[in-house]
Amino acid sequence: MERTFIMLKPDAVQRGLIGQIIARFEAKGLKLVGMKLKRVDRALAEAHYAEHRGKGFFEPTVNYIMSSPVVAMVWEGKNAVAAARELMGATNPAAAAPGSVRGSYGIDISRNVVHGSDSPASAEREIGLYFRPEEVLSYTKAG
Ligand code: CMP
Repeated sequence: MERTFIMLKPDAVQRGLIGQIIARFEAKGLKLVGMKLKRVDRALAEAHYAEHRGKGFFEPTVNYIMSSPVVAMVWEGKNAVAAARELMGATNPAAAAPGSVRGSYGIDISRNVVHGSDSPASAEREIGLYFRPEEVLSYTKAG
């Protein structure tokens, strides 16, 4: 079964949106198999955004995700990466579909509420950055 890495960013945590956003992933039918409230240090932030090193938004983005705790999660399900991307909406909240997470809760690309893996390969890499294998759990979900 496919897995994706989802992170509720500092703006989501600070604005008290954790529960509302998680509810959308649960309602979709995805299964939560890993979750932690976590402070991101510089090494982890730079590893997470390594593909963007050298871009103008790299340093602000790294500093931003270190600024306050985040909620790191692993969600599992059929086509989980694409399903989560659909739920989240476009990276730029100003362009995200109304009703999507970013379309509902964001307006600024640098504070875009949530991060989600862009491919199954990215998901495996990102899950490995944030979770030890034993922190991703197997269980039977109803429905
Ligand atoms: P995320 O999906 O976490 O991946 C890279 C992040 O960089 C992105 O969300 C945005 O929060 C942030 N970012 C800031 N400025 C830009 C930009 N101009 N283009 C793309 N991403 C940006």
